[in-house]
Amino acid sequence: MEPTKIILDCDPGHDDAIAILLAGKAPEINLLGITVVAGNQTLDRTAINALQVCQYLGLNVPVYAGCDRPMIREKLTAGDIHGATGLDGPKFAPLDRSIETKHAVQYLIETLMASDGDITLVPTGPLTNIAMAMRLEPKIVPKIHRIVLMGGSFSYGNVSPAAEFNILADADAAHVVFTCGRPITMVGLDVTRKVLCVPDVVDRMAKIDNRAGNLFVDLMRFFNKTQHQVFGWEGGPLHDPVTIASIVAPEVLTTKPMHVEIDHRSIQSYGRTNADVFGYLHKTPNVDVATDIDVDRFWDIVEAGIRNYS
Ligand code: BDR
Ligand code: CA
Repeated sequence: MEPTKIILDCDPGHDDAIAILLAGKAPEINLLGITVVAGNQTLDRTAINALQVCQYLGLNVPVYAGCDRPMIREKLTAGDIHGATGLDGPKFAPLDRSIETKHAVQYLIETLMASDGDITLVPTGPLTNIAMAMRLEPKIVPKIHRIVLMGGSFSYGNVSPAAEFNILADADAAHVVFTCGRPITMVGLDVTRKVLCVPDVVDRMAKIDNRAGNLFVDLMRFFNKTQHQVFGWEGGPLHDPVTIASIVAPEVLTTKPMHVEIDHRSIQSYGRTNADVFGYLHKTPNVDVATDIDVDRFWDIVEAGIRNYS
C-alpha cells in the first residue's frame, strides 16, 4: 500500500516531538511537511524546536512557521508542562538549518490545492493554522482527505474541568475545523490518558540505544517530572503520537461516530468538545471520536518507530 501523505501541524512540545520522530521514518507515512503554530510555547520557540528535532534525527522535512497567536482569544502557553523553551530536557547542537520563508498557511493552501485530494492533515496543536487556511482559501476544504487531530475530550479536560489544551487555546479555530465537513478523527484525552509513559516504558525505549531512543528518553524524563508536579502521575500521557500511531495501524484505536460541537461561547465550559455520545440530538455525526486504545499495541508502534532510525 502507498504510504499515507501527511502534513503535521504542531507546537513542539515534548509529545509533538515524539510525533515528529514516529512520522519521520514510518514506512506507512509520507511526511510531506511540518507546519508549526503557537501553542505549548511562542511561535519562535515551537519553530526552533521543530527544526532541532528534525536536525537531531536527520530528517530532511521542510518546516514552515504559521500563526503566532489564536484567531480571536488571548494567547495561552503551557510552560508548566514543557518548560521555558517548550522542549526542555535534551541538549541540542546549534542549528544548521532554518525555517522555510513561506508562511505555513500559504504552504497548506498551495500544497492542498496542488494535490489529488490525498493528503491527511495531522494537527497536534491549537487549530489556528488549519482554520486560517480554510478561511483564506475555502477551496482547500474538499481537497483534504482526512483530519486526524489530537485535541478535546468527551470526559473531562486538562486545562479546565471542561476543556483540553489544544481546543481551549483556540476554540474559534477549532469551531471552524470541526464544522468543515471533512472526515475528522478526534484523538482526545479519553484515550491519550491511557498511554502513560511510566518509567518502565522509558527504560524499554532506552534499551534500543539509538539516536531516536536517546531523544525519546531525554524528552520523557523531563516531561514526566512536570507531569508529576502538575498531575501527580509517574508518567505523562503521550498525547500527540497517538495520531501518528493510528495512521500507522488504524486498529490501535476504537472510534465512534458522534456529533461534536465546540463550546466557544460559554465562560464555564469554554473550549469543551461537546460530544453527543448517546446521540441525544439526532444530529449527523461529524467526527470519529476515539473511545479506546490498545495500549500494548501503541507501545509496540512507538518502539518500532524508534527502531526505524537504527
Ligand atoms: C495537548 O496539549 C499540549 O500540551 C500537548 O502537546 C498536546 O498536544 C494535550 O492536551
Ligand atoms: Ca501538541
